[in-house]
Parts: sequence; C-alpha cells; structure tokens
Amino acid sequence: MDHHHQRSDSQGQQRFLDLDAEVFGHQLAAVLDMAAVPTAGSIVDLGAGTGAGSRLLRRRYPEATVTCVDNDPQMLEQLRGQGFAVVGADLNDGFPALAALATADTAGVDLVWASSSLHHLTRPARLLSGVRRALAPGGALVVVELAALPRFLKERGEALLEQRCHAAAAAAGWNRHPDWTPDLEAAGFAVTRSEVTATPPVTTAAREYARQWFARFAHLPALAREDRQAVEALRVRFSNGIELEPRATRTVWVATPD
Ligand SMILES: C[S@@+](CC[C@H](N)C(=O)[O-])C[C@H]1O[C@@H](n2cnc3c(N)ncnc32)[C@H](O)[C@@H]1O
Repeated sequence: MDHHHQRSDSQGQQRFLDLDAEVFGHQLAAVLDMAAVPTAGSIVDLGAGTGAGSRLLRRRYPEATVTCVDNDPQMLEQLRGQGFAVVGADLNDGFPALAALATADTAGVDLVWASSSLHHLTRPARLLSGVRRALAPGGALVVVELAALPRFLKERGEALLEQRCHAAAAAAGWNRHPDWTPDLEAAGFAVTRSEVTATPPVTTAAREYARQWFARFAHLPALAREDRQAVEALRVRFSNGIELEPRATRTVWVATPD
C-alpha cells in the first residue's frame, strides 16, 4: 500500500473511532466506574487510537499523567495534538519500559486501560505479564472489548439483515477475541468480568456511524449477493427516514494483581 493510501485509511479509521466515541463514549465512563480506582497519578492507554479512552481518563483523573501507546504514526500525531504523552511501540513486543512512560519516578502505573486493542495482538501474553509487573500496588488493568458489533436497525426485517451482516463480519474475523479471563489469570491477575450495554439517542453522529458500518459490511465476502444489494439500498436512507435504535454491549475485565 502506498503512503497516500495508508494515510487516508488511517484518517478513515480515525473518523470511525471518533464516531464511536461520540455515540457510545458515555458507556466508557460506566466501564471506568467498575474499575473503582479512587486516585491515579500514572495512567497508560494501550492502543489509544484517537484518544476516546485517554480523554475520559484525563477528565476523571485530572492530576494524572496519561500516556498513550499506539503503533500507528497518524494516531500518535492526533494524540500528541491533544496534549497527551505518547509512546510509539508495537504492543506485541510487551509493555513499554516505564522510563518511556514518564513514570520513572513513581512506584509504577496506577491504571492501565486497553479498549478494543488487545484483540489486535498476536502475542498478548508478554504484554499482560509486563503490565502486571508495571502496576503499582492497588493498581488495575481494565480491558474492554465490544461483546458484539454495535446494532442500529430497528425494523424487524432490517434488524435480521444486520444480523446477517454481523455473521459475515464474524466470518471475516472482525472483533474476534477470546474471553480474556484465563490469559489475565495466567499473567497473575485476579479478574472480574462484566458487561455494560448502552442505548444512546438517535443523533446525526449515530446516523453517520451506522452508515459507515454498513458501508464496510457491503464489502464482506461472506455476505450473500441479495444482502449486499439490500445493504447498498439501505445506505442512502441513513441520513433520513430509516428508524434506528443504536445499542452496543461491551465486555469489561477488571484485573488486579493477585
Ligand atoms: C480499534 S482501535 C481502538 C482505539 C481506542 N482504544 C478506542 O477505544 O477508541 C485499536 C488501536 O490499537 C492500535 N494497535 C493495533 N495493534 C497494535 C500494536 N501491535 N501495537 C500498538 N498499537 C496497536 C491501533 O493502531 C488502534 O489505534
């Protein structure tokens, strides 16, 4: 892929993540409540993307240093522009050295956040044991994944089409992740696992986010031809008319040193 394509792909992905934050961002606040970390001086956001989690963490812990780790240069540029400390690193190589995280003078990291990022890794075990070692006493690791892709369509026939799109997306490996509990336990954590569901209002951003999901579904190889045509026909209706009922469930693992 040439540089121009990489850049526009990353910009498309940035817009997509920002829409998720706009539509479902308040769900992450509920997730953070579950971690029950009363104060934090040092926070690390793993696979921070465009900073949806980092901004929430900064609002919740205004005194803390929030360090964002990602391996996409465009994401890092965006995060730096928002005033975050950033570290460019491949998380498959493990947890970055504390010295790189501007926390060298502390007893460790109080809160590590990994939202929709762990499933991108081919070697998460090394990262998880590194997080375990880096955490300060009383610290926590919060792992978040979409339990299923967000749902938007309300009318029964359309909702069934959406289900088939999700099945085709699953066949293509989208959002594929395990129950992280055994991996976290193997890394030395005690784990609580729960789910948070959000049903946000139908806003312009929700309509745009739905439209973008369906634009992606249209290219799925496992989608039947008539479903592909139905998806194409739907796309023009997202900005007007189509009845939406946005809903997303996220799975949350709160892991504390055993
Ligand atoms: C789906 S996005 C999630 C972004 C953000 N955490 C959120 O919830 O909006 C996944 C992020 O993980 C980053 N990522 C994927 N693989 C990575 C790796 N091996 N090392 C570091 N970052 C990685 C991607 O660049 C992307 O920004």
